[in-house]
Amino acid sequence: MQKRPLGKSTLSVNPIGLGCMGFSEFYGAPSPQDEAIATIHAALDLGVDHFDTAEMYGMGANEKLLGKALKGKRETVVIATKFGIGRDPKTGAVTGLDGSRAALIRSCEKSLKALDTDVIDLYYQHRMDPATPIEETMEALAELVQAGKIKAIGLSECSADTLRRACAIHPVAAVQSEYSLFSRDIEQSVIPACIELGVTLTAYSPLGRGMLTGRYSADKKDLEATDYRQTNPRFSAENYAANIALVDEVKAIAKRHNAHPAQIALAWVLAQGPHVIAIPGTTKISNLRSNMQAGDIVLDEADKKALLALSEKVKGDRYADMRAVNR
Ligand code: ATR
Repeated sequence: MQKRPLGKSTLSVNPIGLGCMGFSEFYGAPSPQDEAIATIHAALDLGVDHFDTAEMYGMGANEKLLGKALKGKRETVVIATKFGIGRDPKTGAVTGLDGSRAALIRSCEKSLKALDTDVIDLYYQHRMDPATPIEETMEALAELVQAGKIKAIGLSECSADTLRRACAIHPVAAVQSEYSLFSRDIEQSVIPACIELGVTLTAYSPLGRGMLTGRYSADKKDLEATDYRQTNPRFSAENYAANIALVDEVKAIAKRHNAHPAQIALAWVLAQGPHVIAIPGTTKISNLRSNMQAGDIVLDEADKKALLALSEKVKGDRYADMRAVNR
C-alpha cells in the first residue's frame, strides 16, 4: 500500500498501523509478553511501520512492551504515544486530565524512558483538558519539538474548534478519533476541519472495537466479564443484539469480495480519502495478516450504499460519557 503523509509533517506511514492497547489491558487479559513481542515482530515483517500506544495503557506497561519489541528496529518505524490522562498507580482508576506544561513535560520524559528511545515520532494529547487552554498545551508541545524530544504533534478526540486554535500555535500532524462504520459523528465537523487544515485523521477502533469483525456471538458469551467493552453503550444489554445484527450486512459484502468482514470495515475507512489512516488493534498474528490485506479491497457504489445504510442504524453512543470526546 502507498504510504500516506502524517499531516504536513515529514513523516509518512502505511495506511494501516497497529493499535497496541489490547496487548496490555481493556480488552480482556493482557497478552503474555513473548506472544505480544512475536506479534509486533510479525507486524514489522508484514510492513507495519506505525505503532500506536499511550502512557495510560497498562500504566506504562504498553510503552515498555513496545520499547522492548522494537529494540534495534527503531529507525524503521513511527512510534505514536499519548499523554494527559492521569491514573492512580495502585488502583488504575482515572484520576483526571492534565494538559499543563509541567505535566506533559514529565509525561514525555517517562514515555521516552519506557519506550527506550530518544525521540517520540508522534506525540498526542490523549484527551483535551478543560482546565488548560489548548494554546498553553501547544506551546509546551512546540518546545518539545524544538528540543528534539518529539517530531510531530497530535490531538486525540479534540473538537474542530480546538484543532483550529491548536493549529494557530503550531502545526498538528494528526487528530486521532474513533472512526468506523459504527462511529461517524466526527464527519460533522472534525473531519472537515482536518481536511481544511491539512491534518491526518488517525481512525482508532476502526473495527467497532471488534464488533464489525463478525466474531462476537449474539449472546455475548465470548467477552470476558472484566472486558472494558461490557461498559460501552454499543455492547450494553439493550443495544448489543441490534448492533450485532447489523454486522450481517458486512458479512454479506465480505462474502461477495471473498474477504473477511474486518477487511471490509477497514477498506471503508481507508476509502474515505488520503487524509485518513487506520490503527486496528489486534493481539493475533493471523488477524493482523488479514487486516493488512484490507487495502487491496475496492468497494463499489452498491457496497458503500449498503454500508452507509447500516451505519445509520447503530444503537447507543460510542462512549457512556460523550463529554470527554470531540472537546
Ligand atoms: P481498538 O482500536 O479499540 O483496539 P478495533 O481495532 O476496532 O478497536 O478492534 C479491536 C478488536 O478487534 C480486538 O478485540 C481484536 O481482537 P484480537 O486481539 O483477538 O485480534 C479484534 N480484531 C482485530 N482484527 C480482527 C480480525 N481480523 N478478526 C477478528 N477479530 C479481530
